[in-house]
Amino acid sequence: MKSWVLLLGLSGHIGKASQHSNVHTSIFLFICTMNDSFFDTLIEPTLLLDEQRCRQNIKAMYARAKNAGVSFRPHFKTHQSHEVGRWFREEGVDKITVSSLRMAEYFAADGWADITVAFPVNIREINRINDLASKIKLNVLIENERSIQYLAQHLLHPIGAFLKIDIGYHRTGLDPKDEHQISSLLKTIDHYDKIKAVGLLGHAGHSYKARGKAAIHKIHKESLALIRSLKEKLQTDYPELLISVGDTPTCSWEQHFPQVDEIRPGNFVFYDLAQWRIGSCRFDQIAVAMACPIVAKHPDRQQLVIYGGGVHFAKDQSKLLDGKTTYYGHVVPFQKGNWGLPNGQNYIASLSQEHGIVQVQADIMNQYQVGDFITILPIHSCMAANAMKSYRTLDGKILSRL
Ligand SMILES: Cc1ncc(COP(=O)(O)O)c(C=O)c1O
Repeated sequence: MKSWVLLLGLSGHIGKASQHSNVHTSIFLFICTMNDSFFDTLIEPTLLLDEQRCRQNIKAMYARAKNAGVSFRPHFKTHQSHEVGRWFREEGVDKITVSSLRMAEYFAADGWADITVAFPVNIREINRINDLASKIKLNVLIENERSIQYLAQHLLHPIGAFLKIDIGYHRTGLDPKDEHQISSLLKTIDHYDKIKAVGLLGHAGHSYKARGKAAIHKIHKESLALIRSLKEKLQTDYPELLISVGDTPTCSWEQHFPQVDEIRPGNFVFYDLAQWRIGSCRFDQIAVAMACPIVAKHPDRQQLVIYGGGVHFAKDQSKLLDGKTTYYGHVVPFQKGNWGLPNGQNYIASLSQEHGIVQVQADIMNQYQVGDFITILPIHSCMAANAMKSYRTLDGKILSRL
């Protein structure tokens, strides 16, 4: 829907009515749309993707890996899209990380032939593992004896195994100080010819609690120290074990990854407000924004109601800079086919299943009409992208995803 505003401007005097003036008559007719014509064909909440920013994020992270002398195995769980994956391939990336076997199948079908599934192996998916292992180089994540034994009995084709090491996040993984348990698992793996131990894999997901460079650096140093010291203890018996780490906050800041072999960041491909809050990115690196139709206005409480709820944004939240106010996304201006920067004062104050309540300042309240689209940066792009299932690039391409 468009809302047109006609501005009729008269300047000077009309005709010969005035003898006092030689001012020419001029009539200015401005026709402008309050809502960018980009939205003309959209009807529902739509996840917009700025291809240029996204490609730039890919290039920058790959350059960072190259400069640090580590290989780049980006995590594809954020975008889960063949097309976006191809942008990585165009840069020369040839190995990837995913978080499920289904995702591995999806990307294998698009030609990716070296995939690590960085989620503790679900042995109930043995048929999928066998099928994939017959076609590609597949690595799985292991942290217990039972998985090794089960795989050993059921594998039909060789796979690689990373041992998951807990480097401070405490979500999953083996205690890096318990080298006896880790050696014992490695020895068990050694008995079987279809599983090869390829490395130690850590994920410093607690970097999401950091705010700013110094806090991120502390986590980087501490988490690397844990996995490096484990590797040193295993060095004599297992000199070829790789060290694989990498989350978006540390990978966005750090230049040095001593003794690390590969990094696996994922979120950086889009970034989001959570990463901005941590200090991993600038607003102008965020490559996705949600466009939502306005369905009601409540000027009395300075709120717009949008068609855009938890089923679109997910329910990730953050605090405004006052440290108190919860919000679920920031409004950004949209002009000439692209979005700008948020001012921090217009934000989603609450989300229910399909409704979003957007708290706005007076200028936004006046500027937007029911039926217009409003554009909002998400807190967590991985979750919003997962909820939305497709992207619309700013030049109008629809990109599908798993
Ligand atoms: C095991 C593992 N590796 C890498 C990543 C990528 O981290 P990020 O999304 O911070 O880039 C994740 C994300 O959850 C992960 O679970």
